[in-house]
Amino acid sequence: MSANMVALAYLIAAVLFILALKGLSSPESSRRGNLFGMIGMLIAMVVTLQLPSVQNYAWIFAALAVGGLIGGSVARKIPMTHMPQLVAFMHSLVGLAAVLIAVSAFYDPAAYGIADIDGGLHLASRIELFLGAFIGAITFTASIVAFAKLQGLVSGRPVTFRGQHLLNLLLGLGMIAAGVVFCIGQGWEAFLLMLVIALVLGVLLIIPIGGADMPVIVSMLNSYSGWAAAGIGFTLSNNMLIIAGALVGSSGAILSYIMCKAMNRSLFNVLLGGFGGQVATGGGYDESAEKRPVNAGSAEDAAFLLRNARSVVIVPGYGLAVARAQHALKEVVDKLIASGVQVRFAIHPVAGRMPGHMNVLLAEADVPYDIVCEMDEINPEFAETDVALVLGANDVTNPAARTDPACPIYGMPILDVEKADRILVVKRSLSVGYAGLDNDIFYMDKTMMLFDDAKKACEAILKSLD
Ligand code: TAP
Repeated sequence: MSANMVALAYLIAAVLFILALKGLSSPESSRRGNLFGMIGMLIAMVVTLQLPSVQNYAWIFAALAVGGLIGGSVARKIPMTHMPQLVAFMHSLVGLAAVLIAVSAFYDPAAYGIADIDGGLHLASRIELFLGAFIGAITFTASIVAFAKLQGLVSGRPVTFRGQHLLNLLLGLGMIAAGVVFCIGQGWEAFLLMLVIALVLGVLLIIPIGGADMPVIVSMLNSYSGWAAAGIGFTLSNNMLIIAGALVGSSGAILSYIMCKAMNRSLFNVLLGGFGGQVATGGGYDESAEKRPVNAGSAEDAAFLLRNARSVVIVPGYGLAVARAQHALKEVVDKLIASGVQVRFAIHPVAGRMPGHMNVLLAEADVPYDIVCEMDEINPEFAETDVALVLGANDVTNPAARTDPACPIYGMPILDVEKADRILVVKRSLSVGYAGLDNDIFYMDKTMMLFDDAKKACEAILKSLD
């Protein structure tokens, strides 16, 4: 394939990647977006494999087969609620790949076509190697720690100590100094020192970050892994890798910003780690909550409320995912719509445990996109709603976020369910949600609590609707 044809194929792949990102920005077009991304990746891989510099096909195909098998089986088995840690783990591999390529290019520059006449590295290549290697090393260890925290292998609580930020700053400066020495002098000692400091820095940057900020960090690591890939793309003189890396880097950064806004966190503070890092309890039982009276009802009561409503807004949350209740819920929705009730879903941007979590679950159950509404769209509608059905959600409906400056989610925009005529809350107990907070809506006069697993509750409501 001529150089022009390669450039054209890479351009087509790059356009497909951009269309993939555009498609993924809405649930309606996300399948198409995924397809564009897959076709783009296939073109990029086939074209790259036939480049003259690619010689050892046996190793490449063996790695593709092993990686494909592991990836395929993990993707099939992993529950949706464990997706954030899987993504964190994947980022660690991108970081490691960037480091390994940098190390191998450092030891054998001629093999990468970046050697100068003495067999050493050009200054430009050294700078590229430095950037790719240090971002890759930070991404690698930071992603491993994020994975361990999310998987519960280590505590999700922030680890802080005196002088932490000063230490991080000194290490960061030390890493840059070692990188500059490497760029000027080519010495392997400086390169190695820079790498070791970056690996340590990756750990130190993540340990002070609390559970509640972890999703932002995973998305930020996604961004880092993209920049590491772009840096290595320069080393390998591969335009495709530079473009794909830059797309991942910038889209990850934009997603982090959007998530910070939705959780009322400052990106700057999250990035520095520790500043204002809040402790999420991730569940538990609030003793004081039990003492306040609630109106508890049965599935028949819930069915009665829903059947007699003109409009129902359903607020799904993390509990829906845990119970895998989306299919049973869809049957309830179908029945209500068939009997003339207007049903809509209200999606909070951080409901569940990953961006778009609720959209994915509802799409799995074939809930029509036109009844799934974003927070800004549905919030003004609650005042006109007969029943707000809160299903396995908690924090995203907590009015304390609006009224109590002392609460950790203060300032986070919430769904205004308390403005509906009646509130129906389905959860197993009065346990707290992710942020570890009691929720005043459980104790309101107009609220009815249905204490059950979300799936069992939906099945029981469905029976009572018959
Ligand atoms: P949460 O506030 O975590 O509340 C979920 C509720 O579901 C719990 O109170 C729990 O109560 C209930 N539940 C658990 N299993 C259930 C089951 N089988 N059946 C019925 N209910 C069940 O969820 P949310 O309202 O979706 O809010 C999300 C929270 O996670 C926010 O604080 C957000 O900041 C945080 N977060 C979000 C993300 C992203 S990006 N989405 C990532 C990480 C963290 P019971 O135990 O009483 O049943």
